Amino acid sequence: MSPITRILVLVLAIGGGMLYRNVSQLWADLPPPKLNEQEWWGDEAEPADYAAYLANSSEVVGNRLSYPDVRIEELTILLNQTLRLTPPLEGVAFEYGFNSDYLKKLVAYWRDNYLPRWREREVFLWQFNHFTTDIQGLRMHFLHLMVYNDNKVGKKHYPVLLLHGWPGSVREFYNLIHLLYQTQLNKNNKYIFDVIVPSLPGYAWSQGTSRKGLGPAQVAVMIRNLMLRLGYKKFFIQGGDWGSVIGSNIATLYPENVLGYHSNMCNNFSPKSLVKGIFASFIPNFFVSSEYADFFFPKSRELSYLLEESGYFHLQATKPDTIGSALSGNPVGLAAYILEKFSTWTNASYRSLPDGGLKRSYKLDALLDNVMIYYLTNSITTSQRLYAEAYSSAQRDLRLERVPTTVPTGCARFKSDIMHFLDYQLQDKYKNLIHSSYHKQGGHFAALEVPKVLHSDFIEFVQKVERKFNIKPL
Ligand SMILES: *[C@@H]1O[C@H](CO)[C@@H](O)[C@H](O)[C@H]1NC(C)=O
Ligand SMILES: *[C@@H]1O[C@H](CO)[C@@H](O)[C@H](O)[C@H]1NC(C)=O
Ligand SMILES: *[C@@H]1O[C@H](CO)[C@@H](O)[C@H](O)[C@H]1NC(C)=O
Ligand SMILES: *[C@@H]1O[C@H](CO)[C@@H](O)[C@H](O)[C@H]1NC(C)=O
Repeated sequence: MSPITRILVLVLAIGGGMLYRNVSQLWADLPPPKLNEQEWWGDEAEPADYAAYLANSSEVVGNRLSYPDVRIEELTILLNQTLRLTPPLEGVAFEYGFNSDYLKKLVAYWRDNYLPRWREREVFLWQFNHFTTDIQGLRMHFLHLMVYNDNKVGKKHYPVLLLHGWPGSVREFYNLIHLLYQTQLNKNNKYIFDVIVPSLPGYAWSQGTSRKGLGPAQVAVMIRNLMLRLGYKKFFIQGGDWGSVIGSNIATLYPENVLGYHSNMCNNFSPKSLVKGIFASFIPNFFVSSEYADFFFPKSRELSYLLEESGYFHLQATKPDTIGSALSGNPVGLAAYILEKFSTWTNASYRSLPDGGLKRSYKLDALLDNVMIYYLTNSITTSQRLYAEAYSSAQRDLRLERVPTTVPTGCARFKSDIMHFLDYQLQDKYKNLIHSSYHKQGGHFAALEVPKVLHSDFIEFVQKVERKFNIKPL
């Protein structure tokens, strides 16, 4: 070897070694960060004596909300104004966003059919017990259903926390709640649950903060505090969308409190997982049975779909207040913005249907209930800020995607959801991925769209947790 070659080999070896070290640093698991469990999010100044604040404000109060007629009349008037919408282009359905011809029909239904029945819808919405309590300075809203002692005999009884996302609400879970809870009356049903369904901070009746920094990790702390306050030291978690992210954060930061984590939007955005995803796309059959390969591949299709559909995400992560201004107090725009997601995320092919296929998968009343919740609580801006907080540098610095999650984990994939991750990618983070399933029907809002399928998937997961781990029913 010439001296130059030798130097070159040496330089390459050192460079390679450094690169390997750097890459493996990027790869390695990290320890969980420590979060402040009493972080103050309230409008008022932080109390000097937190213990006294807790003693004073930890009361859980019933919360049967009712809106005066004038609020509903005001909305009727807004929905009765001449709509100055721009007609869709020739032959365009939902490809350019919510179709304005169909929007007119939807508004007419909302105004003339749905709103006159609002008091009935209220009875429906308040069919479960609603509560509020103060957590770290914010009033938090939640549903709480407790199984009666008499109905526990001979059954397995666990608590489950259900977590919604954006642009959803507790309303997404109503059918699932019936399946988890109401079936205590069914003698053949072996599993019954205490069900806790919070509205995320800044969503619906849960107060939003006036401070920066309330990202998914901090929300996880708050919701765990809520569960502890209600007396649940160990519980199952089920969630999709932000609910999945926040559920994962609870499971990661507080494994001692989590019996099992079940997600219908399981993901792993660690660098290693993303590289693995690209790698797997060259030899898909090696990583997933051919029957389900089209959940993941081709990656090019997934990426272009993500680009087409994630504009809202960038907007909300960067300028949530601007789009919030356009939507607040504007029920027609709000409905279009929210329900476009319920169309496309339920089935991408619905973009070519003039009515967005909304009624194929849902009852319009259920969708309008959800829109009403955002409208009446004026929570669209605060809900969208969660995106900005999730992508702040402070939140990213927590690197939770690289902190292993050890609790039993279940992943339910619904074909039409926005993107999917292979077990091979998930297992890096979820060390006990004991349940992994594929559903050829259903999309992003599985709880609302296919509650029975989600319920049986969840029960299957609970059974696997029972078999593999020594967990105790309540
Ligand atoms: C590689 O790792 C070293 C030591 O941790 C660090 O100082 C350096 O900035 C890293 N280089 C790159 C390109 O990340
Ligand atoms: C507790 O609540 C009472 C009544 O609302 C109030 O007067 C008092 O200042 C509160 N104490 C603390 C420590 O917050
Ligand atoms: C809507 O406005 C029209 C007049 O512009 C009125 O006749 C009708 O009663 C209004 N409908 C409702 C539901 O307020
Ligand atoms: C999406 O809708 C099409 C019909 O438009 C249907 O053939 C397909 O099965 C649906 N996909 C899912 C996952 O439900």
